Amino acid sequence: MTVPLESPAGGGGDAVAAPEALLRLDSVEVVYDHVISVLRGVSITVPEGAIVALLGPNGAGKTTTLKAISNLLRVERGDITGGEIHFRGERIDKLAPGDLVRRGIIQVMEGRRCFPHLTVHENLLTGSYTRKDGKAAVRSDLERVYGHFPALGERRRILAGFISGGEQQMLAIGRALMSRPAMVLLDEPSMGLAPQVVARIFSEVRQLNEEEGVTFLLAEQNANMALGVAGYGYILESGQIALEGTAAELHGNPAVREHYLGLSHAAAQSADEGGRAG
Ligand SMILES: Nc1ncnc2c1ncn2[C@@H]1O[C@H](COP(=O)(O)OP(=O)(O)OP(=O)(O)O)[C@@H](O)[C@H]1O
Ligand SMILES: [Mg+2]
Repeated sequence: MTVPLESPAGGGGDAVAAPEALLRLDSVEVVYDHVISVLRGVSITVPEGAIVALLGPNGAGKTTTLKAISNLLRVERGDITGGEIHFRGERIDKLAPGDLVRRGIIQVMEGRRCFPHLTVHENLLTGSYTRKDGKAAVRSDLERVYGHFPALGERRRILAGFISGGEQQMLAIGRALMSRPAMVLLDEPSMGLAPQVVARIFSEVRQLNEEEGVTFLLAEQNANMALGVAGYGYILESGQIALEGTAAELHGNPAVREHYLGLSHAAAQSADEGGRAG
């Protein structure tokens, strides 16, 4: 799907002084199987302490972008063939996934992958494998995760395969938190979950961001939910950034409203005209 998107009014955010970027992608290109070109010059900036949304339809390249950052492309026979990725100013696109985790970047995979034959508690422990600090620190972080997600605390002795989809998503996020990340790459957390459950998870994302300063890059098809928590968003279409802006700018953009926020063309147009008249 190709949507004709306009630039945000006023020529975008070029007048805004960018804060120090925690993560920066510059013109990243990814090719699968040596021939399938999927990302074509993707540039994204995630400031420290932000929640940034990466929006876009099915197959746009959101997961590929996250895997390029966490260096999980190799197992998919994907390669970064162009561009650079920096984290805290350091070039990271040649580092192994484990080194990235140690530097504070962790991905929560699409489809909330947990180990179904391990208990909730054991799943969380697997998230602390890269840590070198003592058992006491890990124990206190387990309690911290149970504090954020009380449902997981109640089910800590239950096999992960038997908890609900929403709880599995919480578990996948909780396991990521066990590595004490500075930045979480969260892939499609809303997928297949009831709106109420999604709202609960997104409110926890906001809380982790506000209270613990965790930075998020959030890949989502659900633009409505994502722009509810994100401060800034990028729209990816066919492997290229079609549009970017603050959540408010994207919300106000007629094309975004029509194609991503589920508002009809007429509603989008009248909202636009109403906005201009007011
Ligand atoms: N391992 C692979 N080998 C070849 N092509 C792939 C591979 N993984 C993904 N692709 C292709 O790359 C494109 C982008 O896929 P990607 O999964 O990154 O999109 P997405 O935006 O995450 O989509 P969704 O919203 O469905 O999760 C798609 O056309 C997909 O078919
Ligand atoms: Mg995806």
